[in-house]
Amino acid sequence: MIAVDGPAASGKGTIATRLGAMFGLPVLDTGLLYRAVGVLTQRAGDSLDDEGAAAAAAAILTADQLDDPALRTRAAGELASRVAVHRRVRDALLEFQHTFARQDGGAVLDGRDIGTVICPDAPAKLYVTATPQVRAERRWKQLQGQGETVAYGDVLEDIRRRDARDGGRDAAPMTRAPDAQLLDTTDLTIEAAADAARRIVEAARVRWEAAKAAD
Ligand code: C5P
Repeated sequence: MIAVDGPAASGKGTIATRLGAMFGLPVLDTGLLYRAVGVLTQRAGDSLDDEGAAAAAAAILTADQLDDPALRTRAAGELASRVAVHRRVRDALLEFQHTFARQDGGAVLDGRDIGTVICPDAPAKLYVTATPQVRAERRWKQLQGQGETVAYGDVLEDIRRRDARDGGRDAAPMTRAPDAQLLDTTDLTIEAAADAARRIVEAARVRWEAAKAAD
């Protein structure tokens, strides 16, 4: 099992996808779960601050709801981070993530709390980061590609606000697990970042197999 955590637009999603392809593992982008809960709560006309309403949306979430393109928008990212502060929402999404993580043969999960809360025993953990400016530039380009017109400065402000909310909340705050390898992608191409991630996972696998053999 591979845990990939980090802030918005750090490159963790791309890295998780690449690792999945390299090691033949299914990948779950857990941000989509929170995005779906945020969008569904808003569509139902409920307040994002209403923990019970958001938790009820989380409780009935199904995998087929994660393909909705509306979840990829800038607005959905903001809704996600607002419902993600609620402990009952996080609890309601636990089983889905555990089931995915524990499937035979392993899995890759990316998010904010995978190495700390969801899979603290994951044999391979990465914490992917980059400067807020570089992350904002990447997200801005991605949004342009999706046809969303937005100013770079507004994207940077989103990133800073989300970092503060995700890192400052009481429930499962975004933080690097003590045993997660830090991967700073600020100056790395996608290829170089994916290669560095592969080396981290291979080293973790060697350690894990040695520990198992010694048992
Ligand atoms: O990764 P993504 O930007 O799609 O995540 C959207 C939001 O969902 C994050 O800003 C965060 O608030 C929340 N999230 C979380 N825990 C995760 C994944 C995402 O709290 N494991």
